[in-house]
Parts: sequence; C-alpha cells; structure tokens
Amino acid sequence: MTVVERDGVGLVEPTQEDIDHVKAAEGRGDFEPDPGDPIGDLIKVPIHRLLVVDTATGERLGLVSWHPEMYGPTIGCLAWNIGIGLLPSARGRGVGSLAQRLLVEHLFATTSYDRIEADTDVENIAEQKALAKAGLRREGVIRGAHTRGGVRRDMVLFGILRTDLVEPGGSA
Ligand SMILES: CC(C)(COP(=O)(O)OP(=O)(O)OC[C@H]1O[C@@H](n2cnc3c(N)ncnc32)[C@H](O)[C@@H]1OP(=O)(O)O)[C@@H](O)C(=O)NCCC(=O)NCCS
Repeated sequence: MTVVERDGVGLVEPTQEDIDHVKAAEGRGDFEPDPGDPIGDLIKVPIHRLLVVDTATGERLGLVSWHPEMYGPTIGCLAWNIGIGLLPSARGRGVGSLAQRLLVEHLFATTSYDRIEADTDVENIAEQKALAKAGLRREGVIRGAHTRGGVRRDMVLFGILRTDLVEPGGSA
C-alpha cells in the first residue's frame, strides 16, 4: 500500500522480502557504525520502516525508518528519530531529500509527536545536505556518539518541530 508519494517517489508498506532485498543490496555504507552487540539486548526499541519506490517503475530504491527517542517520562517528551538507506543506484538524484521530507510530513500528519530528528556522522555530507533540503535544521554536534573503524566518532543532530512545518511541501 502506498502511504505517501510526490514527484515520482513513493513510500509504501514493505514486505519482509522488500526489507531483506534492500538491506542486502545496500551493502555496508561508508558511515555505518562498527558491528557490535545488538542494542535489543538492553532496550527494546520498535523500529518502523517504509520502502522507498520509484512510482513510475515500481523499482525499489531504499528504506526509510523511524523509532521513538525519549527525552523524558511522558508522551510529550518523545520525538521520532528518522533514518534512511538508499541503494547505490538510487543515490545522488534527490531521492534522499524527497523521501525524508515525505516521511516527516507523513509522521506529523499521522502521529501526535511534535518533534522529528535525525543524526548522522559528521563526515556524511550527503545526508546532512539531504536533511537540510528536507527541512530539518542543524542543531548541534553529539560528541562520540558511535564507533566507526574502531574510532569513536561525532554525529550531527538535525531536527524539525511541528511548528516549523509551514505547509506540506513548504520550505520549512
Ligand atoms: C545519504 C543519502 C540518504 C542521501 O540521499 P541522496 O538521494 O543520495 O542525496 P540527494 O541526491 O538528495 O542529495 C542531497 C545533497 O547531497 C549532495 N551529495 C550527494 N552525494 C554526495 C556525496 N557523496 N558527497 C557530498 N555531497 C553529496 C547532493 O549534491 C545534494 O546537494 P546539493 O543539493 O547541494 O546538490 C544516500 O546517499 C544514502 O542512502 N547513502 C547511504 C546510506 C546513508 O548514508 N544513510 C544515512 C545514514 S545516517
């Protein structure tokens, strides 16, 4: 089922086969954290996913995901944290910016959380530009947030509030 679409890019409910296909084809990105013990052994975090597709051809382009980020004990303290991974063949032509924008609009339209955020490696310039184009603002640097290549790395935090959203498809 197509959840949302615009300008040739759609977000659709994935099957497990879609998820397995994209994860296998995506490969390990340049900015993937080092493998380690799964976080699920400590904290159960529900991860939601939608498949990114080319609406003209139905081609699978990647996955977007989101999970709750907790800043306190009440629902009012929760934010969505979003992520994305595109197949190498789908990168560099605006899909990442549009897919994340569509996800932001979809989450604000269908859930009550007022904040959506995303974090990415300080060296992941493509994702930082894509997030900015999707309307998220650069908020700061989270020091030493993950390990990559055996080295503890900083990440950049981006965020958008419901009140930042001028209108669906608007610039903020
Ligand atoms: C990061 C990612 C989602 C960006 O999506 P994308 O569709 O490739 O990016 P876009 O085409 O929307 O481009 C966004 C901007 O980044 C720039 N860009 C794209 N690839 C780049 C690269 N390798 N280095 C620097 N800038 C790059 C584009 O030129 C564009 O900037 P511009 O508008 O100033 O020209 C995608 O490349 C991807 O899935 N990469 C691998 C997984 C990943 O890194 N996910 C994020 C982890 S937090």
